[in-house]
Amino acid sequence: MKRTVISLGGSIMVRGEDDPKFLMEFRDLLLAQPKDHRIIIITGGGRTARDHIRIGRELGSDEATLDSVGIEATRLNAWLLISGLPDECHPVPIGSIEEALIAIGSFRIVIGGGTHPGHTTDTVAALIAEKWKADSFLNLTAVNGAYTADPNEDRNAKKIDSMTSLQLLELVSDTASGAGSHSVMDPVAAKIIHRAHLRTYIMNGRDLGSVKACLDGKQFDGTIIYHEKEVS
Ligand code: UTP
Repeated sequence: MKRTVISLGGSIMVRGEDDPKFLMEFRDLLLAQPKDHRIIIITGGGRTARDHIRIGRELGSDEATLDSVGIEATRLNAWLLISGLPDECHPVPIGSIEEALIAIGSFRIVIGGGTHPGHTTDTVAALIAEKWKADSFLNLTAVNGAYTADPNEDRNAKKIDSMTSLQLLELVSDTASGAGSHSVMDPVAAKIIHRAHLRTYIMNGRDLGSVKACLDGKQFDGTIIYHEKEVS
C-alpha cells in the first residue's frame, strides 16, 4: 500500500478564479489513483482564515483565539473538498491526528483541517505523515516550489530544485509565529520533516500536471526535500 499525505493550501483551493473547475479536476486526480494508494489531505484556511484573523486582531483578540478562528476556516475548506467526493472518502473532516490514522484504515481518502492552536496545517499534515510512516509528503502551495526569498517580494529570488531538510529548516527559520503568518513551509513542519526523514515535495497545487507527475513518481516542476542521510 502506498501512503501519501498532502498539505493543500487554502489559498489555491479558493482563490476566486476557476475554483469549482480546479476542485473537480483535483478530485478526479485523486479518484484516478490506484485503489491501494491511500491519501490523507489536510486543507489550509487560505484567504478566509487570513481575513477573519485580521478582523479579530483589530477587535483586540489574543493570538490563541485567532488560531481557533483560523482552524475553523481550515475545517470549512475540508468540508468543501469532502462535499465533492463520493463514498470513498471519510465523510467528515478528521479532528485529530489519531482520528486520521483510524479513518484511513477504512477509507482510501481522508480529509481534515487544523487541530490545535500554535501551528499551521503544514504541521498537522507533517505529524500525520510521521506517525503514519507516509512514503511521501506533498505541500501544494501557490508557488512552484521553494525559493531563496519570497518571489512576490524579491525579484532576485531563485527557485530551489532540491535541498536537504536542514537547508529547508534554515530557509524558514525566521518565519513570524503569530496567527495567520505565512511562508512556503511552517518552521514547525520543517522540523518534523527533518526529524522524521520525510521525503517531501513542494509544488504549485494549481499545476495538476505537476501534482500528477509527482504522484506517479515522475519528474515535476517543484522542489524536492531530501534528508541529509539520503544525499551523503
Ligand atoms: P493555514 O494552515 O491555512 O495557514 O492555517 P497558511 O500557512 O496561511 O496556509 P494557506 O494559506 O492555506 O496555504 C491558517 C491559520 O489557522 C491557525 C493558524 O493561525 C494559521 O496561521 N491554525 C491552523 C492553527 O492554529 N492550528 C492548526 O492546526 C491549523
